[in-house]
Amino acid sequence: MLDNGLLQTPPMGWLAWERFRCNINCDEDPKNCISERLFMEMADRMAQDGWRDMGYTYLNIDDCWIGGRDASGCLMPDPKRFPHGIPFLADYVHSLGLKLGIYADMGNFTCMGYPGTTLDKVVQDAQTFAEWKVDMLKLDGCFSTPEERAQGYPKMAAALNATGRPIAFSCSWPAYEGGLPPRARLGEEGSRSSSGLFLTSASQSAGIYKHEPPHLAICPPPYRRLLFLMENKKLMLRWKLLIGNFGLSLEQSRAQMALWTVLAAPLLMSTDLRTISAQNMDILQNPLMIKINQDPLGIQGRRIHKEKSLIEVYMRPLSNKASALVFFSRRTDMPYRYHSSLGQLNFTGSVIYEAQDVYSGDIISGLRDETNFTVIINPSGVVMWYLYPIKNLEMSQQ
Ligand code: GLA
Repeated sequence: MLDNGLLQTPPMGWLAWERFRCNINCDEDPKNCISERLFMEMADRMAQDGWRDMGYTYLNIDDCWIGGRDASGCLMPDPKRFPHGIPFLADYVHSLGLKLGIYADMGNFTCMGYPGTTLDKVVQDAQTFAEWKVDMLKLDGCFSTPEERAQGYPKMAAALNATGRPIAFSCSWPAYEGGLPPRARLGEEGSRSSSGLFLTSASQSAGIYKHEPPHLAICPPPYRRLLFLMENKKLMLRWKLLIGNFGLSLEQSRAQMALWTVLAAPLLMSTDLRTISAQNMDILQNPLMIKINQDPLGIQGRRIHKEKSLIEVYMRPLSNKASALVFFSRRTDMPYRYHSSLGQLNFTGSVIYEAQDVYSGDIISGLRDETNFTVIINPSGVVMWYLYPIKNLEMSQQ
């Protein structure tokens, strides 16, 4: 599993669901209905507007693409909305240097009621997706029993693997088991699969307002580098980025991006890239943010501090002894002056640090453990630092 080269860092891309849902009304809404046109237009934007070059390469179809099964039982797309078929779309997406993701459901029906991938169809569907040259499969879990899931998800991992095509496996199993990943089982199965079953807890603490402390901060060895892609309905926003979609303020958008990044969560946007604002593009295309999200150590950050004042601090260890710090405010009143020091945040040792504010670019220099600093955090907003050691005082004394 670790050797197939896929998803060594959180996947980045675009996914239809949060923005376009199950809009199949192509007669009245041809520009926004789930159709090959929508995916081709998003692919064009991803290639032309800098997304692909920043690392956003997966273009993912979600529910409501299926038209039925043919005489031999193979899945078929809706012929009206995907008249040229999925291989055509995959070729188009690949010609632009992007990857195509698709959606299926380990159960009788997809969540929106389209044909599901029942246990007897798992192998056939994996083969179909591989023949179509699909690069990622999201396997949802509506309309299934716990027993079917326990058999079906590992079966799909093995079936994808057996196709010989590297296909990333985005696994919704945990979302259907109360949100807690059946980790041992996934780990075992995962370690035997090489289809890119690459799952962690990263994404489950995703909701800005409701999220729980990430209770599975770091995967134990040997799975530490595995990033579990999963959804948790209880935790509200799930793992799709809502930035640029309806409903988030600027501060909330910045907070979402920072929290996803500190938690090493996937960066899967779900917004209309044809109309996204420059401000939201800046958030999603912040180079330092993306560098932190994609840090090769692959360690998930966690909350290290929680104040009665509704301020929380998150920390993610990064390569080269750097770390990311996110100061997050759940307040709704006014910008809050938060006083702290690296010592109070459990940084020890005689090291002088420098920090770069990820959003403003400002450099804060000469930070030692005991140096008091103040960050001003807007309501529902964050201040995010990329913190790196400049000098080790103990070593320089020797
Ligand atoms: C479930 C999933 C969503 C989306 C829909 C599609 O609700 O959690 O992400 O895929 O199904 O119907």
